[in-house]
Amino acid sequence: SGSAAFEGTRLCPRVIKPDGPATILAIGTSNPTNIFEQSTYPDFFFDVTNCNDKTELKKKFQRICDKSGIKKRHFHLTDEILRKNPSICKFKEASLDPRQDIAVLEVPKLAKEAAISAIKQWGQPKSKITHLVFATTSGVDMPGADFQLAKLLGLRPTVKRVMLYQQGCYAGATVLRVAKDLAENNKGARVLVACSEVTAVTFRAPSETHLDGLVGSALFGDGAAALIVGSDPVPQEEKPLFEIHWAGEAVLPDSDGAINGHLREAGLIFHLLKDVPGLISKNIDKVLAEPLEYVHFPSYNDMFWAVHPGGPAILDQIEAKLGLSTDKMQASRDVLASYGNMSSASVLFVLDQIRKNSEELHLPTTGEGFEWGFVIGFGPGLTVETLLLRSINI
Ligand code: CAA
Repeated sequence: SGSAAFEGTRLCPRVIKPDGPATILAIGTSNPTNIFEQSTYPDFFFDVTNCNDKTELKKKFQRICDKSGIKKRHFHLTDEILRKNPSICKFKEASLDPRQDIAVLEVPKLAKEAAISAIKQWGQPKSKITHLVFATTSGVDMPGADFQLAKLLGLRPTVKRVMLYQQGCYAGATVLRVAKDLAENNKGARVLVACSEVTAVTFRAPSETHLDGLVGSALFGDGAAALIVGSDPVPQEEKPLFEIHWAGEAVLPDSDGAINGHLREAGLIFHLLKDVPGLISKNIDKVLAEPLEYVHFPSYNDMFWAVHPGGPAILDQIEAKLGLSTDKMQASRDVLASYGNMSSASVLFVLDQIRKNSEELHLPTTGEGFEWGFVIGFGPGLTVETLLLRSINI
């Protein structure tokens, strides 16, 4: 019984919620074809940036590359592109326009390849995709990379989009936290999740005045990952890989300024304190205490671990702090070795590696034979984004 003004109007039906937890139904990845070997990268990097005279700095860069745990990285940027865009190759010259021209085009294109692979694995028509969640720290634009990806894929114009710009590396877990809520609150929702990064925004010449920039230059690489997330998988039609049981985010104490990125005329300028690995490892057990309250799971060594491979020191120190056996971080180390730090996409590559290893080694579950596992992303803040996953029997 409403007022006269509402008589005759029909109320929208309340949203019907699904029964089960959100599940990951497919994972696809993509990288540019252009590859740089880490062993020869210092020569290329100092040459293309016209810094061959900085011999001491080059030796330091070589030491960082040698300790990076990286064998190769994939870049959209090629020798040719860099030489055609000299402003990108300077340390801090106005260069946002050419960087944006590359990122705005390439970020959705790289995501498209990953999404096509995920949709193929999922085996369902793309018209069933109801939501899209996209994250990138590589450039900004309007309409956003989410809009461009939806258009490139030919998704329905009614697809409900969420675009996350400039979150940094932890966004790989954030997209899954958002997708989980969408999937668990809207019956029949099928969420396409994508993270895509290209180093065209951060590439710059080395400088004695920005030594943490050297670390970024030695670590960052390009890549995209895409996943399909939905609750109540259709039996016989959809094959879940993992269930998402808990998602949370925490800002670490006393970590202001440990990882910063500022978008300037000279592109995206990163700052990394040396203590990033220490700050993360010092607080990691407190971060993991909260999901422990909700689910009773076994010891850390009886779980699988998908940790953002931000750098080898971070993986080493988390491993030491939690008393993990050396095989727990193997998927993270393998992704780091093959692709470098692809920011938000990295942790999703790690999850993909875990389920592929599990299948290849005929392990009983998608989580290296274990039931429970963590996905851990971290980045500016310092922000740590954590998901608790349950694997599926293979
Ligand atoms: N700033 C400046 N210099 C640094 C540095 C930093 N943050 N970290 C290391 N270095 C320098 C050291 O001073 C050292 O220089 P010298 O050789 O001249 O002494 C050189 O790098 C090598 O360091 P180490 O000898 O201590 O070697 P290592 O085993 O620690 O390896 C490393 C070096 C690969 C950089 C390692 O320290 C590492 O993995 N660090 C973590 C890197 C990091 O912070 N990653 C996060 C990236 S950001 C991110 O992922 C999220 C996002 O949002 C983008």
